[in-house]
Amino acid sequence: MSKPGSQRIARKPRSTWKKTNFRQQLQVDEPVASPTHFYGQGLPNVDTEALTGKLIVLEGADGSGRSTQIRKLVDWLEGNGHAAVQVGIKRSTLVSEELEKAQEGNILSHTTMSLFYATDFADQLENIIIPALSAGFIVIADRYIYTLMARDMVRGMDQRWVTNLYGMALVPDAVFYLDVSPSQLIQRNLSKNQTLDYWESGMDLGLSRDMFDSFVAYQQRMKKAFMRMQRTYRFQIIDGEQQPNAVYDELITAVNQTIFGA
Ligand SMILES: Nc1ncnc2c1ncn2[C@@H]1O[C@H](COP(=O)(O)OP(=O)(O)OP(=O)(O)O)[C@@H](O)[C@H]1O
Ligand SMILES: [Mg+2]
Repeated sequence: MSKPGSQRIARKPRSTWKKTNFRQQLQVDEPVASPTHFYGQGLPNVDTEALTGKLIVLEGADGSGRSTQIRKLVDWLEGNGHAAVQVGIKRSTLVSEELEKAQEGNILSHTTMSLFYATDFADQLENIIIPALSAGFIVIADRYIYTLMARDMVRGMDQRWVTNLYGMALVPDAVFYLDVSPSQLIQRNLSKNQTLDYWESGMDLGLSRDMFDSFVAYQQRMKKAFMRMQRTYRFQIIDGEQQPNAVYDELITAVNQTIFGA
């Protein structure tokens, strides 16, 4: 058996590409090979040339529809023979529980909170994302460093410090941002959870004592931070206020183009 990651996926000549009909879920091309690299210094001892899988990121605010779309995307990928692995914020085995506990008490400074999240990210990068990519899997990230960076930035942290910190991250093959207005987000979060989240409402920032007002003000700031990053980090923005199937169609078309060259 060949070593995971030893088989590089060769780019097919254009003339042999088969057009994918995603609606009928008939056939998907092989992922198009592209060089993987880190934003900055990366992690030590990683041979990025061996990372033959693909990293797809879905970004968007709480309730923007990321999980809804990821479920469909994973079904589609797996239905077409591509193994998919999922990661997300606060999902590391190393610190996710501790992070949850720390948030309950509001005991961390912006810096220590930021480093806690960075640790959660680094653990998943090292133990899930990189091994999966070297085994040729498609990794779907439910949020990535951009949410963490935007959260830090709206809390006034030094942008260079934050950018350097996340220089450890791999550059994804595609980043999608689901754009949904704060008022729509409130409706969705209330119908899903019957409440708004303290942190996603930016209540730690003291923007307003009213959680709804704080949520709107915080989400507007987050969106500005995302828009500032858009060109540098090459987000593809999708209108997340469309019907779920319309969002999905846009997403799959873009994934097909970006990942499979279809
Ligand atoms: N395009 C859409 N239009 C209307 N409602 C939607 C749409 N997509 C998802 N929803 C609904 O909005 C709610 C939030 O969706 P979902 O859980 O997928 O979002 P999320 O971004 O993963 O949220 P969270 O940040 O809580 O993980 C759910 O009740 C879902 O059914
Ligand atoms: Mg979700």
